[in-house]
Amino acid sequence: MSTLWSGRFDTAPDAAVFEFGASFAFDRRLFEDDVRGSLAWADALREAGVLSSEDARAIAGGLTEILQRGTADPAWVSGPDEDVHSFVERQLVERIGDAGRRLHTGRSRNEQVSLDLRLFLRRRIAALQRQVLDVLDALAALAERSGTTLMPAYTHLRRAQPVLVAHFVLAHAAALRRDYARLGAAAAEADALPLGSGAVAGTNYAIDTARLASALGFSRVVTNSIDASADRDFAAAFLHACSLSMVHLSRFAEDIIIFSGEEHGFFELSDEASTGSSMMPQKKNPDPLELVRGKTGRTIGRLAGFLATMKGLPSGYNKDLQEDKEAVFDADATLAGCLESVALVVRGLRINGERTTPAAAGLLLATDVADYLVSRGLPFRRAHELVGLMTRRLLDEKRDFESLTLAEWQRYSDLFQADVIDRVTATASVAARRTPQSTHPDAVAAALQDLGAFIADARRRER
Ligand code: ARG
Repeated sequence: MSTLWSGRFDTAPDAAVFEFGASFAFDRRLFEDDVRGSLAWADALREAGVLSSEDARAIAGGLTEILQRGTADPAWVSGPDEDVHSFVERQLVERIGDAGRRLHTGRSRNEQVSLDLRLFLRRRIAALQRQVLDVLDALAALAERSGTTLMPAYTHLRRAQPVLVAHFVLAHAAALRRDYARLGAAAAEADALPLGSGAVAGTNYAIDTARLASALGFSRVVTNSIDASADRDFAAAFLHACSLSMVHLSRFAEDIIIFSGEEHGFFELSDEASTGSSMMPQKKNPDPLELVRGKTGRTIGRLAGFLATMKGLPSGYNKDLQEDKEAVFDADATLAGCLESVALVVRGLRINGERTTPAAAGLLLATDVADYLVSRGLPFRRAHELVGLMTRRLLDEKRDFESLTLAEWQRYSDLFQADVIDRVTATASVAARRTPQSTHPDAVAAALQDLGAFIADARRRER
């Protein structure tokens, strides 16, 4: 196999060394981006007077043919080439001869690979964002169908206070909305044209980089050629956005794994989103959710590993940077697969109100009892202490607040009046919340509406 750089060498590289350095096995995923980048570059060379119109036309024709062939038959994009850039150039020269040998004028693979990865991220991030919207859609529908069903909210994994199931569902949606924005920020970071940087010092030809940037859909051009040849901040930002998205999917998975188990029984997984045991016939396992949780470690590993790759690099391009691609591809594929699974799980999730509603009552109402006393003028700290004492007694007697008669309430404090019976229920508890981020049913309905508007707006902007 001849390389793009064989001229300087007496002998070909050792086969094992070549194989070790080759990236075509994975950077073939950049095929489409590489060809599109070259089409634009050839045009910029023509405009700069470097390529004759004839050569530029031949190159455009050859590249278009290559792009069509490769997109129609992805398996064709393979061979003994060192990388995808070498593959495309070989194919071009095979088709159009010397004109193809003029394409790389004034350009380096260092900037080319940065360009390709930026283009790849732009299209993949948009696709991931669409998948985030699909999950958000499924969560909105789940919140919707939960109506005003109650469940306990937890802190320290101990029952804390009653909330609407919808409020719990929308909590996970809130995190995913941040992920949507964070993925967008990574795309914005990748949104700069690196071409014109040459290998490290810039190019000798009068390329109109601003024009080339807009031809390729970039909103700006990089500012320093040395920085550009080794800047992979956009890749790191993407890996971070993927990692945090995975952390959120993992936390959702963990909640549902726990809440769909026999001990809680709050939710029932659909059969499509569950698996059985080869030995225990009764089992219905949440494998997809466990895999989402498990794969999160892998994505965080990609981020941590890539940052470690970057930290010792001297200025300018270094071959270490080739490690960016497998990290990015793996994080992308992992997040895409997990988003798809989670959407499927959420769509099939059944809420078991007979289990969530009673779990939302009982001693969880202690804070509401204290707030009742505060409304009668008792300082909160005193109210807290008194309700703590009541809780201790009720625990001993295996009873809860709702079983107390008015006389029993008043034995604890004469501040308790007849209305305490109605004020200390799970339904009254959520209705007493006053802030927009609270679980008050009106606040939750508004939050659900806001989520719907966000999804509709994001989908509109996508088109
Ligand atoms: N495969 C290389 C990479 O992924 C492409 C750039 C090669 N540049 C070079 N000077 N060897 O980074």
